[in-house]
Amino acid sequence: MIGIFDSGLGGLTVFKEVAKALPGYRLLYLGDTARTPYGNRSQDLIYKFTKEAVEYLFRQGCQLVIIACNTASAEALRKIQREWLSKNYPERRVLGVIRPVAEEASQATKSGRIGVVGTRATVSSGAYGRELEALKPGVKVFSQACPLLVPLIEEGQAKRPETMKILRNYVRPLKAPKIDTLILGCTHYQFLYRQFKSAGQKGIKVLDSAKITAEKLKDYLARHKEIEVKLEKGGANRFLATDLTENFKKIVRDWLGEEVKLEKVDLG
Ligand code: DGL
Repeated sequence: MIGIFDSGLGGLTVFKEVAKALPGYRLLYLGDTARTPYGNRSQDLIYKFTKEAVEYLFRQGCQLVIIACNTASAEALRKIQREWLSKNYPERRVLGVIRPVAEEASQATKSGRIGVVGTRATVSSGAYGRELEALKPGVKVFSQACPLLVPLIEEGQAKRPETMKILRNYVRPLKAPKIDTLILGCTHYQFLYRQFKSAGQKGIKVLDSAKITAEKLKDYLARHKEIEVKLEKGGANRFLATDLTENFKKIVRDWLGEEVKLEKVDLG
């Protein structure tokens, strides 16, 4: 199975694209809805929560886990890969969302001026800046934390005019630096893709992070047959969450366009 983990429901945007790009592979989604949002927490806690989630998915039989959460990818992925995975599950893989999107952005930009919007933790980690600089030395990265957006999306308020007003205020400081590419550095923001497009300057490229992650995963599996052969094909996908509320159920139903069975799990 391929595990897809997010702090809440933002990773469903990645789930949907992975299911499209890799039909037939069995997917297991886990949202840590009881402890979301992660974006305003310390690195130590984000690492602890993410490691627990990855381990849980491994115990369910996932050979590969995508951390479909920028915050967890920025604050925990490197440490998990370097310090924990090799000691505990050397034959399994954990991938994140920052590298694939940074690769795409470094190719998409013409002016070398890239904007990044994300949670406070993702922005202050500087993870996108580091990846982009490594891929395209000299690139200029302009970041903006948008801490109010995740709670609004989780509350099902994505389409409210108040949300649009808040989003416009966040995007405004990115206008003066004349970026030509905008990275939605939070999986939740994919729910607001059209709103970001209309709030940014004309002609700006807003990258579809979920689609990019799914396409890069497909490419990764084509290059890493040793992992690909271990992945389960066929069988129903499963959806796990650490807390189940009516609101969460509704957003899952609306986003996936179908009724799915949600299972409550305890990561502790
Ligand atoms: N969806 C997560 C991300 O991509 C963050 C949400 C949160 O703050 O937990 O950054």
